[in-house]
Amino acid sequence: MKSFQTISELRTYLAAGRKRGSKVSFVPTMGALHAGHKACIDIARREGGILVSSIFVNPTQFGPAEDFDAYPRPVEEDTAGLLQWGCDAVFLPSVREMYEREQRVWVEAGCLADVLCGKHRAGHFRGVATVVAKLFHIVEPHVAVFGQKDAQQAIIIREMARQLNMPVAILLCPTVREPDGLAVSSRNRYLSKEDRAAAAGLYAGLRHGKALLESGEREARAITESVRRYLTGAGILGTEYVELLNAEDLSPTDPVAGRVLLAAAARIGSTRLIDNIVLEVRDGVRETMLF
Ligand code: PAF
Repeated sequence: MKSFQTISELRTYLAAGRKRGSKVSFVPTMGALHAGHKACIDIARREGGILVSSIFVNPTQFGPAEDFDAYPRPVEEDTAGLLQWGCDAVFLPSVREMYEREQRVWVEAGCLADVLCGKHRAGHFRGVATVVAKLFHIVEPHVAVFGQKDAQQAIIIREMARQLNMPVAILLCPTVREPDGLAVSSRNRYLSKEDRAAAAGLYAGLRHGKALLESGEREARAITESVRRYLTGAGILGTEYVELLNAEDLSPTDPVAGRVLLAAAARIGSTRLIDNIVLEVRDGVRETMLF
């Protein structure tokens, strides 16, 4: 596996590959890799071409009080994983390489960034969309894969690619879960033993919301309030939000109908976790993918 720290070296390598007729599949990450990243890489590999991953802890998507400095950076472990998972190249830029000049031009996601995590993490999606746009211009992939666990991020990136005419297909990877349902996440490693036990309640809460829909409840607020109560009962005291929104454009859905995103965020101990399920709500209720 090739490893590149500069944009120009990576571009030279990819240009040579393209000259030989290869396409490029891409999985951007912030490192601290886990089974969820592996699942994204498996999907990207099936798309063929040169398989590139990036590891870059992007400062512009962290708020001043967030965990940018403390974010785990096990670079050797991560690169060993990428090699084992069949990546052809890893891009490991420094902050200076990615933000050589003071960033004045940003990608804003409008109302898509005003709900869910965007309401609680000011500027987060502007940082995500901007760095992903930069990475797309550097790597020029024909496909890029993102996880459904970060559903709002995936929706924003797909819309960015559509509206800015980026020639890249955005593919979605299903959420990978631990046996008790907890979605795998780089931040799970921060959980104490007690917090880890409580954390499984987040997914159980979403399943509770699904069960309410299955029983015929269609009032969004009745469902989200009941999920909140369920989370409290499961020992999750720091619920940030529980929302039920249209899964295409994150608009309100009330009465709940069509393809909907039931999403929650909670602080468990000092760790902020998010999770979601996507449901097709018609006469019956069926779990499905975001896209
Ligand atoms: O999901 C992530 O790991 C990050 O938000 C991403 C997409 C790599 C951008 O920094």
